[in-house]
Amino acid sequence: MSKLRKALDKAKEAREGLAGDIIIDDNISSPLKTSPIKKREERFEKINPAYHHTTIKHIDFQNLENNKIISICHENAVADQLKILRTQILSQLKKLQGNSLLITSANPGEGRTVTAINLAISLSQQIDGTVLLVDADLRKPSIHSLLGFDAENGLSDYLRGKAQIADLLVNPGMHRLVVLPGGKPIPNSSELLGSPRMEDLVNELKERYADRIIIFDSPPLLTSADSLVLSRFIDGILIVVEAEKTTRENLKRATELLRDKPVIGTILNKTK
Ligand SMILES: Nc1ncnc2c1ncn2[C@@H]1O[C@H](COP(=O)(O)OP(=O)(O)OP(=O)(O)O)[C@@H](O)[C@H]1O
Ligand SMILES: [Mg+2]
Repeated sequence: MSKLRKALDKAKEAREGLAGDIIIDDNISSPLKTSPIKKREERFEKINPAYHHTTIKHIDFQNLENNKIISICHENAVADQLKILRTQILSQLKKLQGNSLLITSANPGEGRTVTAINLAISLSQQIDGTVLLVDADLRKPSIHSLLGFDAENGLSDYLRGKAQIADLLVNPGMHRLVVLPGGKPIPNSSELLGSPRMEDLVNELKERYADRIIIFDSPPLLTSADSLVLSRFIDGILIVVEAEKTTRENLKRATELLRDKPVIGTILNKTK
C-alpha cells in the first residue's frame, strides 16, 4: 500500500469518525450574532461528522461576501446563475464519466479563484458526496485568503515531500466542502504540477471517492504552462472569460492551447 493511500485511508477513517480529533482554529473572527449572515453561518456550520480530523476553520461569512463569494447566499440572482451552471457541469461530468474539473482563464485577474470557490460551494450544496477544492495555483495560492483562513502548508509542500495530504485538508465550516490549500508559493510550479507525484495524487483522489467532485483552481493559460500541464490529468475544463476585458485574440490563443483537451464550456464573469 502506497504512503499516499495510507494517508488517505487515515483521513477517510478519521472523517468517518473512527479516529482522530477535531482540530478547531478559532483565530478567525465571527460575524455579529444577530445578523442574517450569522443565521447562514449557523446553517453551514453544522459540521458533518465526516470531517473529524480534517482541520475545521471558522470563517467570517461577512468577509466571504466582500470577497465576492456569494454562493453561500440562497436568495441572490448570481447564486441562481451558479445553480444553473452547476446543473450544466454535473450533466457534463456525467457524460464524461468524470469527477474532476479545472478552472482556468487566459489572463491573470479574470476571476478563476472566485469562480472556483463559488462553484465548489454551490456544488457542495447539491450533491450527496463531498467537493474537494484544490488550490493548484501554486504561484499565487489564494483560495485560503479569499475564504479567510491561514494556511501555511498545502499542495506545494506535499509535492515537495514535506507534508502529508491528510494533514493539509481543511473544512471551512461548510457542509461537504473540503479545501486543499496551495501552501507556500513556488516559482517552478509547472515541474511539480506535471510530476508523477501530482499525477498519482490526482488519480488517487479521483478514483478513491466516486461520489466526490474535485475542483482545481490554476494559473492563467497564457502566462505559464501550469494549467496545460494539469489539464492532462483532469476530466473537464472550464474557461473563465472576463466581460469587457478578455480579448477575442487571447481567448482564441487560450482555446488553441487546449484544443485536444476536454473543455466543457466557458463562463462569462463580471458581467454588469
Ligand atoms: N463575478 C465577479 N464580480 C465582481 N468581481 C469579481 C468577480 N469575480 C472576481 N471578481 C474580482 O476580480 C478580482 C480577481 O478575482 P480572482 O482572484 O478570482 O481572479 P483570478 O483570475 O483568480 O486572479 P489571479 O490571476 O490573481 O489568480 C478580485 O478582486 C475579485 O473580487
Ligand atoms: Mg486566482
